[in-house]
Amino acid sequence: AARAVVVVAAGSGTRLGIGTAKAFVPVAGELMLARALRTLFTLAEPTTVVVVAPADRLDECRALVAAVAGAAVGYTAVVPGGADRHASVQAGLAVLPDSVQAVLVHDAARCLTPASQFERVFAAVASGSVGALPDGRADADGLGVGVVPALPVVDTVKRVEGDRVVGTVDRSALVGVQTPQGFPLAGLRRAYALAEQAETDDAGVFQAAGGTVRTVAGDADAFKITTRWDLGRAEALVAERAA
Ligand code: C5P
Repeated sequence: AARAVVVVAAGSGTRLGIGTAKAFVPVAGELMLARALRTLFTLAEPTTVVVVAPADRLDECRALVAAVAGAAVGYTAVVPGGADRHASVQAGLAVLPDSVQAVLVHDAARCLTPASQFERVFAAVASGSVGALPDGRADADGLGVGVVPALPVVDTVKRVEGDRVVGTVDRSALVGVQTPQGFPLAGLRRAYALAEQAETDDAGVFQAAGGTVRTVAGDADAFKITTRWDLGRAEALVAERAA
């Protein structure tokens, strides 16, 4: 397939306090990873899927991918993750066939992200051609254009020093970003190879290497399950979708 999604699912889930890898926590009876994968296998175009899993759960993860994929054909792979998200993403990128042009990196923990968000990001990556940026400037580094789904920040945001508030940040210039984040594969691989310091997302790595990143609309349902409260919110949303 010319397009691929790398699902990172190797995190420990410490903040959920459940004592198991987060992607293997059930959300209303179905594992987070299974829910995330189910959406991918409904995408209209053939899409290569790579799952980055905890090293001690590879077999379980392979069985899960096979069960969810069912008759959906296409290249899938399950590879062991690394010590941090950065290393896990690199492990996933490493096994992608070179024929892949656009790759999306997605957090398994954002397991209720709708298919429309994947399609929106793929479409934006495809329209940002390598060699020229959308605003006509030359793409000197040849990395291409990266895409992140973003939502406006709704809270008032303060800058603090310890517990002392030192100012209010202009939130009109801020967005919160989600996944999947999309890139030309060759550009993202180069950006990861060049990365010198850890970034908290793929767009950060891409931008640090000189790449241009643009936003598309995010979706509230693409929130990341981090805490127990998030898990409850996800279960409520599943119940709502079923009703
Ligand atoms: O910990 P956090 O919620 O930021 O993790 C975001 C995503 O990155 C999760 O889907 C998690 O499984 C993944 N991750 C990973 N390997 C790590 C750490 C996090 O695949 N070592």
